[in-house]
Amino acid sequence: MDGSKGLEALGAEARKFISTPKKILIDGAWVTSSSGETFEIYNPATGQVVAHAQSGSKEDVNAAVAAARRAFDDHSEWRKMSPANRGKLLHKIGDLILANADELAQLESLDNGKPVVVARVADVVLAADIFHYMAGWTTKIDGGVLDLSVPFTPGTEYHAYTRREPIGVVGQIIPWNFPILMAAWKLAPALACGCTVVLKPAEETPLTALRLGELIMEAGLPKGVLNIITGFGETTGAPLAGHPGVDKVAFTGSTEVGKLIVKAAANDLKKLTLELGGKSPNIILNDADLSKAIPGAASAIFFNQGQTCCAGSRLFIQDKVYDEVVAGIAAYAKGLKMGPGLDPSTQLGPLVSQVQFDRVSGYMAAGKTEGASLATGGNRWGNEGYFVEPTLIINAPDSAKVVQEEIFGPVLVASRFKEMDDDLVRRANDSVYGLAAGIWSQDVSKIHKLVPRLRAGTVWVNCYNVFDASMPFGGYKQSGWGREMGHQVLNNYLETKSVCIGY
Ligand code: NAI
Ligand code: MG
Repeated sequence: MDGSKGLEALGAEARKFISTPKKILIDGAWVTSSSGETFEIYNPATGQVVAHAQSGSKEDVNAAVAAARRAFDDHSEWRKMSPANRGKLLHKIGDLILANADELAQLESLDNGKPVVVARVADVVLAADIFHYMAGWTTKIDGGVLDLSVPFTPGTEYHAYTRREPIGVVGQIIPWNFPILMAAWKLAPALACGCTVVLKPAEETPLTALRLGELIMEAGLPKGVLNIITGFGETTGAPLAGHPGVDKVAFTGSTEVGKLIVKAAANDLKKLTLELGGKSPNIILNDADLSKAIPGAASAIFFNQGQTCCAGSRLFIQDKVYDEVVAGIAAYAKGLKMGPGLDPSTQLGPLVSQVQFDRVSGYMAAGKTEGASLATGGNRWGNEGYFVEPTLIINAPDSAKVVQEEIFGPVLVASRFKEMDDDLVRRANDSVYGLAAGIWSQDVSKIHKLVPRLRAGTVWVNCYNVFDASMPFGGYKQSGWGREMGHQVLNNYLETKSVCIGY
């Protein structure tokens, strides 16, 4: 099939990258998979094949883990590298991301479907940011000195202290919704702490992780410290999650697969962090500034075509402003310019894949049942690619599938509440997830009353989907284990060693 349609917008670098056969990275070398098998990469705007990636096997995972173990040896170049030099290297990676930002944004848009303009100012810049931020931490990882009061050894004194040491070989499995950013959120802290890594990108979107791998090798990372194996969940991800040579697994993806990862890691009690799904409540109070709350609540769900784990997907609107907010969001949705991500005027692109298109379409159909109705959207857009209209569902009971399950598409469910009371809090928390929440109000005391009662890892007030390398991100309940970003993320990649010297 001719995959060139719609690719005129690619620059020379991106064009060159996709026309070069894709490999996997093991022990510093770009190689083909042991099976020689490849899989197809689609342009979500057209459904056409644009490239092929290597289908990593268990053997490839074994080779990558072995390389990562060698690179983690006491005497390896990486382990002997000073924290300051590790920091310089991470800085250089951040700089190289920015120097190649246009190419990376185009590849991301081509692979995932997201608007190239958004990829350029958000995904790629945030990916560089986390490397720059983590570069500063390499020299600040320290332990403490302890004063012991041991009662049973009179006459002996002790000098005791703690050391923070890298956890070892890390397996990192990432999703397709923010491909380069998820790679960066995982890699930057692991490298800052001195770990070695085997990274498995999502099969839908492997391109930018591979390009990032090239840039990281260009920055001078010793061989074997980073290995990248593209492939499918069951054939590449599962062997990595269960590999006895892996000390820690970091996963972002579905809650369903998160549970499989827990089982795979249980065998040898690997350390584990998980960033999983969400169904985040977004609450608009009567006193909110609607000129901000309406576009804010709309972009809280429609950003990234709704394929955002922390999307504000359950909107609770207080009685007095309900009609105005519903009408405002419907108008916002209708005004969004849809089109291929590579078109710079596009505001809402296609979903990532046929599978995701089918899944989201199924939920849109379910949104017309159980007494619910559509305020806007509900259909496929265009006649090629994986586009769906931004959709607003109203009047769905709290128990409805569309209210309870993560849709992961541009589909918002809005409902009404009367008072800011226990019942509102109960409804907002009525979810197996607890990733994020939003509040829109101008009343600071109401805001402070609500914030502690929302069971979520991030609460955005009068803003939404704001990320910063310094701000921890992660979930309560079934949204995950642990936090990414901020200095908290260092705990994911460090062990603590207590040293006690008697004298
Ligand atoms: P997924 O959880 O299957 O994929 C995420 C990653 O896990 C991919 O790299 C995949 O290859 C890998 N994987 C799949 N099965 C595995 C296994 N048995 N062992 C190890 N790794 C495995 O997510 P999928 O199927 O692409 O999307 C399904 C739903 O998950 C979405 O509709 C959405 O609701 C949710 N999701 C949530 C994400 C988040 O950021 N929290 C990201 C992607 C999906
Ligand atoms: Mg899956």
